[in-house]
Amino acid sequence: MGLNVEKLKKIRLNLNEPILLYESPDYKIAWVGSAENFIFRCNAYLISADGTNILIDPGGIQHFPQVKQRVSALIGNPEKITHIITHHQDPDVIGSLPEWLKINPEITIITTPRTKVLIPYYGFDRDNVNWLDVSPLDDTIIDIGEKSTLMFLSAPFLHFPEAFVTYDSRSKILFSGDIFAAIQQKWELVVTDIEKHKKEMMYFHVYYMASQKALKYFVNKIKPFEIKAIAPQHGSIIPEEFVEKALNFLCNLKCGIDLLYEESPVKSIMDEIFGES
Ligand SMILES: [Fe+2]
Ligand SMILES: [Fe+2]
Repeated sequence: MGLNVEKLKKIRLNLNEPILLYESPDYKIAWVGSAENFIFRCNAYLISADGTNILIDPGGIQHFPQVKQRVSALIGNPEKITHIITHHQDPDVIGSLPEWLKINPEITIITTPRTKVLIPYYGFDRDNVNWLDVSPLDDTIIDIGEKSTLMFLSAPFLHFPEAFVTYDSRSKILFSGDIFAAIQQKWELVVTDIEKHKKEMMYFHVYYMASQKALKYFVNKIKPFEIKAIAPQHGSIIPEEFVEKALNFLCNLKCGIDLLYEESPVKSIMDEIFGES
């Protein structure tokens, strides 16, 4: 009962089934992601409690059949999904949304206003769906039953300008979208070697994240929270024992525009357009 993440290390898992990360009689959180053999493997998560079923970053269109199968194994009928959280607009995060809306047009989509502008281009009518706007001021929450609150925290420029993350007050899992994501030759559900994992996170963050300034701002914001696991959209889940190391690693990582050299082609193109400064 309670958080299972530590127990899932190094045990053989049946990835055709949902894998419970948190379990109590009235509250369940499961990994329901994709089992594709690809370095960019996508994680999706489901929170199920009290008639509320919240799917987090359900994945691309090609992930839909397998994510739906795992969701069905946990809650019976996928029509019971009540909310979908999309931490940003990328196709690997939310390309399957039109399929989920076909199953249940009443689903509430939880996202930021700038993500909301983009995702209807996957092919649905923005005026005929339910939205819950996540404020960039970090004051949007939803209560699940009496014992849990989901808090939505902005993560500017990591990597979308209005990206955000979700913190669950009951399990103390931080669902982090692309932040803390890793590119891995060999995937495992839960990190067992943090030094190896830092390198795998580095490959992702140097190319996708805006800057160290953006990472530092975000890490300082989430540091006061008690975080018992970090569940990203790519790569392995970071268990409590490695959370502090992972936070410090990102806080000190140069990435994105930090790595543009003076002689970089971007600068010469900018000089051409705007004149040399
Ligand atoms: Fe992304
Ligand atoms: Fe992603």
